Amino acid sequence: MAIADIQPADELEKEIRAAGGTAAQVSLDVTDPESVAAGFAEAERQLGPLDIVVNNAAIGTPVALIQDLDVAAWERTLKINLTGSMLCIQAAARLMRPRGRGAIVNIASNVAKRGLPNRSAYVSSKWGLLGLTQTAALELVDANIRVNAICPGPVATPHLDEVMQGHARAEGRSVEQVAEDWRTGAPMRRFIELDEVANVAVFLASEESSAMTGQALNVTGGLIMS
Ligand SMILES: NC(=O)c1ccc[n+]([C@@H]2O[C@H](COP(=O)([O-])OP(=O)(O)OC[C@H]3O[C@@H](n4cnc5c(N)ncnc54)[C@H](O)[C@@H]3O)[C@@H](O)[C@H]2O)c1
Repeated sequence: MAIADIQPADELEKEIRAAGGTAAQVSLDVTDPESVAAGFAEAERQLGPLDIVVNNAAIGTPVALIQDLDVAAWERTLKINLTGSMLCIQAAARLMRPRGRGAIVNIASNVAKRGLPNRSAYVSSKWGLLGLTQTAALELVDANIRVNAICPGPVATPHLDEVMQGHARAEGRSVEQVAEDWRTGAPMRRFIELDEVANVAVFLASEESSAMTGQALNVTGGLIMS
C-alpha cells in the first residue's frame, strides 16, 4: 500500500508492515497536479501498477457561520477536499484506463447528505465529492473502473477533536457537550470506529462489490438513511 500524504506517516507505515503488509510512503500535495502525477508515478515505481485509489485527504476547517466566513479559508477547503480528489481521480484514470481495470473510493462524509451549521465549506466540498463520484463513475465505466464513496459519521480521531473544539468555540458550548451530542446523535448512540470505515473501503475496492459504481454508502450508525 502506498500512503500518499503531505506529511510523514511513519507510524502508519510501521503499523502496515507489522501487520504483514507492504507499505511505501509517497509525499504529495493533492492540490498540485504535478505533485499528484509525480506521487502516483513514484507509488507505481515502488509498488507496481495501482489498481485501487482511496481519496482520503481532507481538512475540516473553517468552523464559522457563512456570514463571518473568510473566503480564502473557504477556497482552501474546496481546493484540498474537492479539487484534490478530482486531481487524484484524474491521475488514477490516466494510469488505470489503458489497463482496463481499477477501483476508486472517495471518503466523503455524513454531511455530504445534509447541512451542518458553521461548516459550509466542508459540507459543500463533501456534497461536491458525491457529484464527482457519480460523474467519474459514468466516465470510467467503459474502462472497467468503478468509483464509489463512503459517507462516515463522526469517527474518533484527532481530526474530529479539532473539529469539535471549533464547534464548541463557534457555538459557545463546551467540547464535552458537543462530543456528547455528536456521540449520541445517531440511532446507535456512539462514534464510528476507524475499522468500520476501512472495512467498507476494502469491500468497495474488491470484487465483492463488482456490480456497484457511483454509490455513496453510509457508515453512520443509522444517522443517515438515504
Ligand atoms: N474523523 C471523522 O469524524 C470523519 C467523519 C466523516 C468523514 N471523514 C473524512 O475521512 C477522511 C479522513 O479523516 P481523518 O479524520 O482521518 O482526518 P486526518 O486529518 O487524520 O486525515 C487527513 C489527511 O489528509 C492529509 N492532507 C491534508 N491536506 C493534504 C494535501 N494538500 N495533500 C495531501 N494530503 C493532505 C493530512 O496530512 C492528513 O493526514 C477525510 O476525508 C475526512 O473528511 C472523517
